[in-house]
Amino acid sequence: MTAGLSWLHCIVCGKSYDTLEVRYLCDCGGLLEVVHNLERLRHEHPNLRDRFDARLGKSQTVYASGVWRYHEMILPELPLEAIVSKPEGNTNLYRNPKLSRAFNLERLYVKHEGENPTLSFKDRGMTAGVSWARCLGMKTVACASTGDTSAAMAAYAAQAEDMQGVVFLPHEKVSPEQLAQAIGYGARTLALDTDFDGCMKLVQELCAQTPIYLLNSMNSFRIEGQKAIGLETLQQLGWRVPDWFVIPVGNAGNISALGKGLLEARHLGLIDRLPRIAGVQAAAADPFYLSWRGGFREKITVVAKPTLASAIRIGAPVSHDKAARVIRQFDGVVAEASEAELMEAKALADRCGLAVCPNSGVALAGLRKLRADKTIADGDTVVVIATAHGAKFSQIGVDYHTGRLPGLPPKQPNPPTVLPADIAAIRRALGY
Ligand code: F0G
Repeated sequence: MTAGLSWLHCIVCGKSYDTLEVRYLCDCGGLLEVVHNLERLRHEHPNLRDRFDARLGKSQTVYASGVWRYHEMILPELPLEAIVSKPEGNTNLYRNPKLSRAFNLERLYVKHEGENPTLSFKDRGMTAGVSWARCLGMKTVACASTGDTSAAMAAYAAQAEDMQGVVFLPHEKVSPEQLAQAIGYGARTLALDTDFDGCMKLVQELCAQTPIYLLNSMNSFRIEGQKAIGLETLQQLGWRVPDWFVIPVGNAGNISALGKGLLEARHLGLIDRLPRIAGVQAAAADPFYLSWRGGFREKITVVAKPTLASAIRIGAPVSHDKAARVIRQFDGVVAEASEAELMEAKALADRCGLAVCPNSGVALAGLRKLRADKTIADGDTVVVIATAHGAKFSQIGVDYHTGRLPGLPPKQPNPPTVLPADIAAIRRALGY
């Protein structure tokens, strides 16, 4: 480890801690964040853009990762040889003419984080979290999850030598594909009779009482890895800054990471202005939206109701304070989407050839609203973060197209046609 490049800082009282101390919150109860010595970084690497660009295509090195390409900005103290990487990132930034037309937005991009190794953006945070855990000598790592964090943690723990994952899942509230990932990768999987927020409380208790290392996004080192979504997007845009990022919000770690990375990128001279950021929630689980509507005067929590966007069914977002700060710093807005809106938006993206998850549908549905009320203007360049792959939620896709989602008649169903294995019947069905 190289000491002195980074430290932990409380966002409430400003107290600092050493990065090698195992802690998730400040003594005052405030959230912590990793702060890097940006002045030193700027001085030592005046041409970070060139440095990052030169690493593109270095396939057999750790820089092949879409996280560790930005090592100096992620965890500069972490030795390269300690990194557990698959590699992750390098996800496509799609420009899709059909989708652009549907939103009447010429410069619309979808950053498809479902193209990560475990099919969600969580791999970016987890390569950082598990690598850090290994450096600290942790043998057991744990998280509560709505399904994607657990899949990623289980996969990276499985790859690290000598590390066991422990996963807390809300029983029967994650998709079969997500459950299959956690158990398949060998994590000790506990399905608890509660919701995500209940799991989150219990896993914090467990980690406070035992030497088990907590790898939810309240672990600041995970946030550092997730910053790479924004950095990689900027690099793919030739370091041009879009007008907007639109991102779904659940526990609020990802939007916090996006904002932190962009601020640091500006500080280091990689970009010269900031985009605006729109966070979007499902109406069934919208505490952050409600808090925003009240001007963030109060931190509202709710009991999250069932939603097709099950990965963001969260009533008490752990990173609320960081996310609220990001909305303020980026002249941001928060929107929400109904079940019908999020599902139709997902189905639309799928029809355009981009298999996205219902949680990403929430972001797209939010974009539709922000276009309708002109918050996002015709000429704006917009990047929507699609957070996971549609293949993680396949039953929802089938149920939509076969009209089996209760109360949600599909606008454009495309059910399979069941036919005898007979050429005449096939031609009739196809109209030839
Ligand atoms: N999209 C997907 C697919 C997710 O899995 C999550 C969070 C989010 C969006 C929201 O990100 O929580 O940082 O605001 N999933 C967590 C999990 C909670 O356990 O997998 P966030």
